[in-house]
Amino acid sequence: MTILITAGPTREAIDPVRYLSNRSSGKMGYALAETAVKAGHRVILISGPTQLDLPDRVDYIPVESAAEMFSTVEHWIGKADIAIFAAAVADYRPAKVPEQKIKKNNEHMTLELVKNPDILGSARSQFNYEGVLIGFAAETENLETNARGKLERKGCDLVVANDVSRKDIGFDSNENEVLFVFKDRTEAPPKDSKQHLAHLIIEQAFELAENR
Ligand code: PMT
Repeated sequence: MTILITAGPTREAIDPVRYLSNRSSGKMGYALAETAVKAGHRVILISGPTQLDLPDRVDYIPVESAAEMFSTVEHWIGKADIAIFAAAVADYRPAKVPEQKIKKNNEHMTLELVKNPDILGSARSQFNYEGVLIGFAAETENLETNARGKLERKGCDLVVANDVSRKDIGFDSNENEVLFVFKDRTEAPPKDSKQHLAHLIIEQAFELAENR
């Protein structure tokens, strides 16, 4: 099978030397890519900038901004049987990016932001993707309810929800504790390494693919 995975943060340029981003390390997405490759599948890894070593034998496509990730996913998703969106995509980007570095002339400065495209939300509605669709939900409250909302709105088969207000899991940690929110049920595997959770997620993905 071919598995498309998004990973890492995006960077949204403010000017030629500054950007907006988030604390995603890419560990969760890269663990998924490594697990899927080891299971003998083709992996297309579309990743924002990370400090991680690339897993062997993945088809790696580096991107920076949400807009770049959007067009790269749009190009490749038709090849995928399973698509997993672990990236922490910036929801907004600066409205204007000047060609020159912004000078610090004023005491205050206001940055106008505009909404980025929702890549996961476009998979079914815009890219007409019909394979298994797995999203993540990074929440700080009402984990299950918010994740179920994302599952329904974005046409996912599974949403992997994590509580990103916790320091010991989620962003940039080696472990995670997640809920698997399916259309008909929710499962709560115990806290574990991102590698082990990646195995569980890939297992669920194959089961969903078999039953589609
Ligand atoms: O990278 P690590 O340090 O290992 O951390 C892992 C993680 C915390 C980043 C990961 O477990 C995680 O939660 N990834 C999703 C982060 C996120 O952006 O969640 P969200 O609830 O804002 O978005 C919901 C889903 O829509 C996600 O699948 C996201 O990839 C996708 N999305 C969001 C916005 C957007 N414009 N396009 C998208 O595709």
